[in-house]
Amino acid sequence: MIIARTIPELQVHIEKYRKRNLKIGFVPTMGALHNGHLSLVEHSRRQSDITVISIFVNPTQFNDPDDLKNYPVTIDSDLEKLERLIFGNDIVFMPGIKDMYPEPDNREFCFGALESVMDGLERPGHFNGVAQIVSKLFDAVNPDIAFFGEKDYQQLLIVRSLAEQLKYDIEIVGCPIVREDDGLAMSSRNELLTNEHRKTAPRIFEICTQAKEMKEQLSLKELKKWVVQMFEQESLLELEYF
Ligand code: PAF
Repeated sequence: MIIARTIPELQVHIEKYRKRNLKIGFVPTMGALHNGHLSLVEHSRRQSDITVISIFVNPTQFNDPDDLKNYPVTIDSDLEKLERLIFGNDIVFMPGIKDMYPEPDNREFCFGALESVMDGLERPGHFNGVAQIVSKLFDAVNPDIAFFGEKDYQQLLIVRSLAEQLKYDIEIVGCPIVREDDGLAMSSRNELLTNEHRKTAPRIFEICTQAKEMKEQLSLKELKKWVVQMFEQESLLELEYF
């Protein structure tokens, strides 16, 4: 696999592949790779000739400075995992902050209702930061197809809207959630959970699954009430939205 640490370094390879008419797949990540990320890489490997994986912890999407400070960084094990999965011509793009933000990005995107509900409400500015970095990465990588996890479903819709607004000729593919054996969706931030929180976290999926099964029998109001009650019984969980 090739490691590119700057945009010009990356683009030397991309131009070479473009001249050979190869289909370029892209998997953007913030590192701390788990099987969810690796499944995105597998999707890309199946659907493109070359896969580019970016690892960049994007500061503009963190509305909480502590979250940024604590975000897990595991570069050596990330590269080991990727080495086992990708080919010699595939690229890991690991830019530095100055490569992605040579100057502050003041662009303000508009995603309408999509950015003002759920995670948009709880994490102001988060999706604007995601849009900033995703557009910069799309410009740098120039892929034909890009893969995003359905775990961050709202982000997937934001990226689709971004691609449409900025007229990127890139197919945006959503890939299924990968879960731990006990149902918890894989996420880099799971590493930050205490043992107690980790034990309780699968309840989120259990409650959602049960709610889905009951959706024909209950009205939306009743269903919401039931979900709220279920979360109230879990002292370690706090419901932000349903
Ligand atoms: O989903 C993520 O890991 C990030 O939000 C992304 C898309 C890599 C942008 O930083």
